[in-house]
Amino acid sequence: MLPIEKKYVQWHENENGKDTLRHARWLSASDYTPPTRVVLVDDKTSADEAYRLACAGTSMLYRGDFYNGRQLLQAITRRIERTNERSKLRKMKKVVKQPAKSKSIEKSQETSNLFHQQRQLQAQRARILSRLLLELDTGYVSKLRRAPDVSAACIAAFGQLEKGVDESCLLSFRDLQGALGAAQWREKGVAIESLGLSIFPHYGVFAPTRHEYVQLLIDAPLPDACNIAYDIGTGTGLLAIILAQRGVKQVVATDLNPRALDCARENFARLQLSSIQLQQANLFPTDAPLANLIVCNPPWLPAKPSSPLEYAVYDANSTMLRGFLQGAKQYLSDQGEVWLILSDLAEHLQLRSREELLGWFADSGLKVKYRLDTQPKHGRSQDENDSLYAARSAEITSLWCLVSSSYEP
Ligand SMILES: C[S@@+](CC[C@H](N)C(=O)[O-])C[C@H]1O[C@@H](n2cnc3c(N)ncnc32)[C@H](O)[C@@H]1O
Repeated sequence: MLPIEKKYVQWHENENGKDTLRHARWLSASDYTPPTRVVLVDDKTSADEAYRLACAGTSMLYRGDFYNGRQLLQAITRRIERTNERSKLRKMKKVVKQPAKSKSIEKSQETSNLFHQQRQLQAQRARILSRLLLELDTGYVSKLRRAPDVSAACIAAFGQLEKGVDESCLLSFRDLQGALGAAQWREKGVAIESLGLSIFPHYGVFAPTRHEYVQLLIDAPLPDACNIAYDIGTGTGLLAIILAQRGVKQVVATDLNPRALDCARENFARLQLSSIQLQQANLFPTDAPLANLIVCNPPWLPAKPSSPLEYAVYDANSTMLRGFLQGAKQYLSDQGEVWLILSDLAEHLQLRSREELLGWFADSGLKVKYRLDTQPKHGRSQDENDSLYAARSAEITSLWCLVSSSYEP
């Protein structure tokens, strides 16, 4: 979720020949603090100069042509990538020079280090790119030359502005692009071929663009007399939709994120699935009958989210996963099943071991009934230039069917 608390940013600008201290509301999808050093830039600012300023921690308020501003952002991106490539090469040379350690220890340390380094680089890249700013007037209107109408996308991403309050806001071109991209997804939808339908994600809600796991939910045999199911962490509502389409009479879907609930509600309505109930909840619903089936596709990487938009992917200390496993049994009917959808990427990155996962199942009073596997086909798993290629290309996503340890068929 974006922060609701209002923050302001100040800068100096020449207005009618007079140096004026201006201020505007600060909007940041990553919840960055308002910048304290802001300079004005325009079409005449070179990409090298903009890159230098951004790396030095100076934010730039862009006053030129809208499309030139977007090109400036792309030029900064290319410079960051070139610098990162050079530092990757330097690091690789260093690794080659190091004395040999035990091969397996070295490999596992290297993989988790590479993961943390890659995240650090991504965070640094995001910071630098977020320093190119633009001003939007009341109603999210840009006065830049050739600026498109961005107001609908901004309202969807950042919320309606307060009625009657006449104030402009400052945000990064990067966040604006995020909002415009999300608006396109929301309009066009993500086609889920195996279901023959499209899902329409909202800004800030996990978009099921990698949806190979859908087939697992179609293939897994439903437990006998499956009348009531929960979908924990429903996001766009995709898993709840599959269950409803497979004939489960009552589905209760929960999520912590209110944006996800709005999004799922809209997707259910489009498909006229009125039998799915939605609840905002930390994990399990309240006042629902015991479930014959509980499905969950939790954030799959045990690491701290670095922005509110990452909560669907990163789960610090596996808090959600462990909380889900620990609580599931108490919501299950006698012969009930848990379907946990989980990628093993964390295992390949040495962030969690298989033994740890199996230990959590056992500690929660659950045992494995069967497991279905699939291999992700997304672009990154096939990109040999990605420093985590070895881990990504070995990734398997599984549907773990878990039952109570006392279950007997
Ligand atoms: C990987 S996404 C999966 C979304 C959806 N089920 C799917 O498969 O497309 C994880 C979802 O869990 C939600 N979530 C994270 N922690 C949660 C919690 N403690 N309780 C409920 N939902 C949570 C996130 O908001 C996100 O929508």
